[in-house]
Amino acid sequence: MFNRRFLLGVAVGLAAGSLLRRANQQGLTQERLTDYYRRRAANYNATDQLQLFGRYPRIEMRQATMHLADLQPGDKVLDFACGAGANFPYIMDRIGSTGKLVGVDYSPEMLEAARKVVDSHGWTNVELIQSDAATMQPGTDFDVVISTLGLVVIPRHELAMQQALDALKPGGKYVVADLCESERWYGRPLAFIMDVLGLFIITDTARRPWEWLAARLNNFRREEIFHGFFYAAVGTKPE
Ligand SMILES: C[S@@+](CC[C@H](N)C(=O)[O-])C[C@H]1O[C@@H](n2cnc3c(N)ncnc32)[C@H](O)[C@@H]1O
Repeated sequence: MFNRRFLLGVAVGLAAGSLLRRANQQGLTQERLTDYYRRRAANYNATDQLQLFGRYPRIEMRQATMHLADLQPGDKVLDFACGAGANFPYIMDRIGSTGKLVGVDYSPEMLEAARKVVDSHGWTNVELIQSDAATMQPGTDFDVVISTLGLVVIPRHELAMQQALDALKPGGKYVVADLCESERWYGRPLAFIMDVLGLFIITDTARRPWEWLAARLNNFRREEIFHGFFYAAVGTKPE
């Protein structure tokens, strides 16, 4: 049914994909990330305006995150790997002046951009902490912890997830959203393109952090966004 050339093409594609994936995993170092986000910081949040097939996948991801987080006025929220504060307006709109937001990021330049977002809105209840999320000490008793587009990037992402879990109060909500490999039939060939992009944007989209979370949280659920190339997930910390 398939000729030899076709089968050879598939084999070469699969081998190249697996080599690329390994290169991405090995290339994901804090040093490279620091350099990358230093250069991207000033314009990073504009990436949300990236339109694909008439849709804005990153904005859809943020809206899904907010829907799952169901933030309430007065909530204390941790946003780890917060970057340039793209989530902040969504969070602050909901928790208001009686809430508290703590943003943690490794990159001083991304935090500087986040500080500009905070100052431009005049928020006084936002704290920014420069730290590796794997060793962060953001405080305790958070009502909600959030991370978007962070878990495919943070080198020691499981330690970071554990630190956030420790900071969350029992019964609190843990919400994450990120890029991932789509499990739809067209996901496999397109994963190759993501592997190529991973060389430039320094991500490891082969990670499956939801499995780590699902094993530790109650009422865990995950939903696909934008053809399964993004997801958002939520669970609650056991009492
Ligand atoms: C793709 S950006 C996402 C930013 C933001 N969460 C958003 O949704 O726009 C990834 C962020 O992870 C940060 N990061 C990388 N390594 C980190 C680490 N070890 N600890 C905390 N943040 C880290 C980067 O500095 C960058 O700001």
